[in-house]
Amino acid sequence: MYQTGIDPPEGIWWKPAHKSEKVWIAIAFAWCLILFAMMPLWHLRGGQNTTGIRHVVEPADFLARTNEFIATYQVDSDRGMPIVEPPPGSDVYLLAMMWQWRPILRLQEGVEYTLHLSSLDLNHGFNLHPLNLNFQVVPGYDYALRVTPTQAGEFRIVCNEFCGIGHDVMVGRIEVLPAGAQGASSEPDGLQGTDLFVSQGDEE
Ligand code: CUA
Repeated sequence: MYQTGIDPPEGIWWKPAHKSEKVWIAIAFAWCLILFAMMPLWHLRGGQNTTGIRHVVEPADFLARTNEFIATYQVDSDRGMPIVEPPPGSDVYLLAMMWQWRPILRLQEGVEYTLHLSSLDLNHGFNLHPLNLNFQVVPGYDYALRVTPTQAGEFRIVCNEFCGIGHDVMVGRIEVLPAGAQGASSEPDGLQGTDLFVSQGDEE
């Protein structure tokens, strides 16, 4: 008689797990439970998982709101990508789409903003580089975060959710001006005409 997957052989035909294997399974399971318990703890203590403000939004409405935001506070542009300097404390809109982050934000250090994130098409991932901040950016949802830049400088937004052929060039920028500095808008460098915003001079 031959065996198939349907009729198992009788008795203990397999090699029973060794005791050390069972110990490792128990350790791994206990570690899973510890990490599971850490999720709410990180939320409450570590500042890792922030509490956002969530609203349902039509992608077209979010696009319209972002365009209005850009039209109101644009101070400059870089290769066709608007640079927007909103007033301190205001609502800031950042739209993800294949394959750009729109617009470039110019913020003040030490000032709180409400940063609204949403996507026009499909899931993207907001990763603030070199800081390790990660948020999913989902079409149909306005995910807002209260943020206070604590450090002046230039930061990259890197998409960390695979979103198609242009995923690897989906890089945006947040500029943080030192506390007290006014919008000293730099000269646009005149390189117009690309739809994809590829940040310039990445010091990696
Ligand atoms: Cu957007 Cu990857």
